[in-house]
Parts: sequence; structure tokens; C-alpha cells
Amino acid sequence: MTQNSTGNPRHFLDISEVAQTDLRLIIEDATRRKQLLPAGDKPLAGKMLAMIFDKPSTRTRVSFDVAMRQLGGETLFLSGAEMQLGRSETIADTARVLSRYVDAIMIRTTTHDRLLEMAEYATVPVINGLTDDTHPCQIMADLMTFEEKRGPVKGKVFAWTGDGNNVLASFAEASARFDFELRIATPQGSDLDGRFIEWARGEGASITTTTDPLEAVSGADCVVTDTWVSMGREDRARGHNVFMPYQVNERLMAAAKPEALFMHCLPAHRGEEVTDAVIDGPQSVVFDEAENRLHAQKAILAWCFGEATGGLSSHG
Ligand code: CP
Ligand code: NVA
Repeated sequence: MTQNSTGNPRHFLDISEVAQTDLRLIIEDATRRKQLLPAGDKPLAGKMLAMIFDKPSTRTRVSFDVAMRQLGGETLFLSGAEMQLGRSETIADTARVLSRYVDAIMIRTTTHDRLLEMAEYATVPVINGLTDDTHPCQIMADLMTFEEKRGPVKGKVFAWTGDGNNVLASFAEASARFDFELRIATPQGSDLDGRFIEWARGEGASITTTTDPLEAVSGADCVVTDTWVSMGREDRARGHNVFMPYQVNERLMAAAKPEALFMHCLPAHRGEEVTDAVIDGPQSVVFDEAENRLHAQKAILAWCFGEATGGLSSHG
């Protein structure tokens, strides 16, 4: 088992819970591993990752699975509904039991408390594969992608338009850790939970909020959006007319810098939060983001086991 200096396993729970130097190390390690042939890169040989999914997934499931195998390890896919968890065995007991079998646990779940309980009782590293509140692994891949295309994120302007959801929450945390400006445009009533903004501002982040997408996007280096209805949040769904002004279309993209990138974690709802012209257009890097999930997951896994190393030039 990999432990940190306090004797606890090294979890990857949220951007806010990981030191800036470690986050930077993970991005460097991901970039380095992307250039390596998987055949020569087996630091996790003999390790087993359990992957628990309480919600659907394509990218997170496949990228963690392939990442672990390419690093020499193995994976177990576990559907929460088919485990005893689905018949109300506690998260705490599940964590204690799984820790006797596997070397790390990745969990995609509903309430953030379930993730935290898993981390509290597991004696192996726990990784957040998305909760109702945050999606930190996604943001690591997104920042890696931006830096591949445009250099350091430090000082750059990211504009979010749409729902104030879990992906945005991790972006807000990242804006503090990586020192980029974040402008958020959400409709009233769909704003990001204020505690994420307060935390980030308390760490020195520059975050502005507005209901005007043009104001947020104007002069931005990167325009980001996501679904208007997150998984398990269907009860909070609002009429499309509320969100339509926040759609990323060619008119909105034209307000950003000419070299601005368009990002979306996927899956996309074409014709809703983004038009085909933008997502399939020259500024879109959505499939590079998806690919980089694989490389970022490798670096996150390696970091949890104390195997992450830099070695490329740092973007500080
Ligand atoms: N972006 C992302 O996490 O995709 P999946 O829901 O397919 O895992
Ligand atoms: N906000 C989305 C992200 C999906 C990867 C959701 O939670 O459904």
C-alpha cells in the first residue's frame, strides 16, 4: 500500500485536496507517459484497481481500465447496483472489505459524502471518478490538453457558459491551484455552489460570475461548456429556453480570442449546449481531451502509488 507522510493512503479526491506541486507533477508525468511506449512503462505490475460505478460512463471507465493495464496492473469493474452496496451495505464496510482485496479504488458515485466515506475507511488510495459535486480527473486532462496546444495556463482566461455543475466546480478549484482566470456565465438559479468559489478566491483565484455569456467569453483563451442536465440531476432540469442563450455557437465563439480553444468533457448534447459547427470546428479539442483522459489517469494512478515523475520542462 502507498502511504503519504501521515501514514494514510494517497487519495486523489479533489483538486483542492492536492498540493499545487503534486498537481503540476501529475500533468508533467501524464505528458511524459504520453510519449512512452506502454510496453516499457509497467510501474503498477501486480496491482489491482477496483472501479465502482454508481453512474454510467464511457471515457472514465475505459481510460482508467486501459491506463491501469498499460501500467502493468489489472482492473475490476464493479457496478454499484450489482454489489451489496445496492442492497444497503455501507460504504464504510465496502471500503474495509475492498481494501483487503485490491490496491486502489476508483469510484464514480452520487453524493460527495459517499466518496469521502470511502476514502475515510479505505486503507488503499481512493480516486474520485466523478460525484454530484466534482470531477477532478477531467480537469487534469483538460489542463494538460490546453498546455499541449497553447502553453502554460497561468494567466490565461477560461470562460464557462452553461450549468454550474460538477465539472465547473473542479475548474474553479483548479483556477486557484494553476493560477488562471475563470469567468463563469450561468443562468440565475443554475449557479455554481458558492462554497467552491469562496474556497478558490480564498486561495487567491480570480473568478468572476455573470449571467451574460458574451461578457464571460469576450477575449477568452478557452471556452468550456457541458451538458445542461448532469447525471442524477434530472430533477433539477430546467427548460431549454433557460439555457439556450448559453449555447456555444459560432456567434459566441467569435467573441473569444481568434486562437481560443473550445472544450467539453463529453458526452455532448449537440444542438443543445454546443452546435455541430463549434464541436466539429477548428477550435474544438474535445477528442484530444478525451484521449488525454488516458494519459492523465495513468499519471493520477502512478501518483497514488508514489510512481509519478516529471522530467519535462515545467510550466510552473
Ligand atoms: N467525461 C467523462 O467523464 O465521460 P464519461 O461519463 O463517459 O466517463
Ligand atoms: N456534468 C456531467 C459530466 C459527465 C462526464 C455529469 O455529471 O453528468
